[in-house]
Amino acid sequence: MAESLAFSKTADRAKIYDELAPQIESLVAGESDLVANLANITAILKQAFGFFWVGFYLKKGNQLVLNAFQGTLACTRIEFDKGVCGHAYTTREIVTVPNTDEFPGHIACSSESKSEIVLPIFDREGEVFGVLDVDSDRLDDFSQTDAEGLQKIVKIIENFI
Ligand code: SME
Repeated sequence: MAESLAFSKTADRAKIYDELAPQIESLVAGESDLVANLANITAILKQAFGFFWVGFYLKKGNQLVLNAFQGTLACTRIEFDKGVCGHAYTTREIVTVPNTDEFPGHIACSSESKSEIVLPIFDREGEVFGVLDVDSDRLDDFSQTDAEGLQKIVKIIENFI
């Protein structure tokens, strides 16, 4: 397996996402354990972009439950109708929040989280398996570039779950 990560030192996030995707493909191709793979993906995103918090909440029964993550202490369970994560779960859409203070129902795990993007992850039956949640300590830090780049990574995940 890959023991190190290679990516350009550039502000061009699209370029970095393009560089990360094949490395993530190769990493998960050699490992079948879900948490091991999700954990490494959070580490890769944190290392490459320095995001404040990167993690997964997976559907367990009627809640989203914290799974692999990198960052500060986080809330462990989210109801489907709560927070940005719940909104992505119920709408089945990518949710981008430029200012977390202005999102009704935002769950503030940390006051340092200023903007956020959450992507749903679908299983083979088309049900939402969980969400990828990325938080920034900067306002309005996520653009269409991030939505597209993170979606590429979610597609890789959808192929191994
Ligand atoms: N802010 C999220 C909760 C998870 S934390 O950001 C880690 C939300 O509103 O769903």
